[in-house]
Amino acid sequence: MIKLDISNVLTEEIGQNGLSISEVESEAKKAISLLTQKPYKELEFINLPFQDLIKTKEYGKKARDYEYIIILGIGGSALGPRVLLESLKPFNNLINKNKVFIYDNVDPATLKHVIEIIDLKSTLINVISKSGSTAETLASFLIFWKMIKNRKLDVREHFIFTTDPEKGNLRIIAEEYEIPTLEIPKNVVGRYSVLTPVGLFIAEAIGLKSEEILEGAKEISERAFKENLNENPMAYLASCLYLMDTLKKRKVLVFLPYSDRLKTLSEWFCQLWGESLGKQGKGTTPYPSLGTTDQHSQLQLWMEGPEDKIILFVSVDSHGFQEEIPEEFNYIEGLKYLGGHTLEELINTEQLATEMALNLNKKPNLKIVLPKINSYYIGQIFQFLQVVTSMAGLLYNINPFNQPGVELGKRLTYGAMGKRGFETEGEEVKKYLKKKRFLI
Ligand code: PA5
Repeated sequence: MIKLDISNVLTEEIGQNGLSISEVESEAKKAISLLTQKPYKELEFINLPFQDLIKTKEYGKKARDYEYIIILGIGGSALGPRVLLESLKPFNNLINKNKVFIYDNVDPATLKHVIEIIDLKSTLINVISKSGSTAETLASFLIFWKMIKNRKLDVREHFIFTTDPEKGNLRIIAEEYEIPTLEIPKNVVGRYSVLTPVGLFIAEAIGLKSEEILEGAKEISERAFKENLNENPMAYLASCLYLMDTLKKRKVLVFLPYSDRLKTLSEWFCQLWGESLGKQGKGTTPYPSLGTTDQHSQLQLWMEGPEDKIILFVSVDSHGFQEEIPEEFNYIEGLKYLGGHTLEELINTEQLATEMALNLNKKPNLKIVLPKINSYYIGQIFQFLQVVTSMAGLLYNINPFNQPGVELGKRLTYGAMGKRGFETEGEEVKKYLKKKRFLI
């Protein structure tokens, strides 16, 4: 089980910037009680570790026959797969037979490079969209669909859709053209979908075992409703983050893993936290970070800048590689002290030193400890953070599963791009553009 250290948010450690253990525990109990009432059907993500994997594994196995796999999806439909790829198969495209490209941002230059690299004949395109209506994903889909058709290739062999089990544009096309599909359960929303075929299909395709990922997550699902606080670290973390915002005005949450393989976990978490909690004037701003790199970039700001941050470290006990630093130049103290230690010792010592420095400066910080990075613990940290985020949403008394604030931008895009039914928005965009004053 991954561990949580909350000592550096308590008053014993950081004085008046901290919280008392009784207030943390009282709010943690509240979080568990709110979760137990299951007020949202979207909490179904907690049951995902118990899903049937037969179809995901079967399609994942077939996908291994392709040299290239392209994922078309964005937000919750891209970030989870990216974490799995980069944490569990780092440098996959340089090392392994199956190359994976996650094309999310509709940047035409990126698309050009991907198209130049792949061989369409040996490419499987996994279009991932829960709604089946996301403009970016559908635009990229149309481009690849046309390319496959132009090459007279069979669309049934080059596409697989991961989408809603019943509705949406992808479902309509899948039925008409007999495209293989994988289902995202009806009540699971994008940013909580990594433990569905959204993440598990690509995991299988790159040779991971999805049951191991789910095994780690299962431990969290089983503990999420436990009233005994000693068994429910998720409730402690939700409580600490919530109270640090509401009582101590810590409005910026720095997510700081000490491992390159967890860099994209920062991006995934920031989407989860930001899109789930930023509502009705509530929520805190997640900041994706990386240790040790950001010690040489942001640490100065965290130590002496505005008193508005809380740091959430993620450290890794065993990185799995023991590169020893050579004992050379022993006559120069600046190099001598490094010799004989390992890189793992250095990265973990830097984490500890940074945490202590913040602590001595009375800056609140928390730490999640992963014993190692493998399928089990990656599954576990996904589910851990998803449970923490939903508990925090319940404490804030907001719905952590919707995203009403992103609708307006989507409607204006539809209007500007000429989608029927959005003519008024199209006119609004024209008027807006006329009002602009550029300085040259
Ligand atoms: O969390 C969410 O719901 C969003 O971030 C979605 O994942 C994102 O907008 C993509 O949506 P869809 O999967 O419907 O294409």
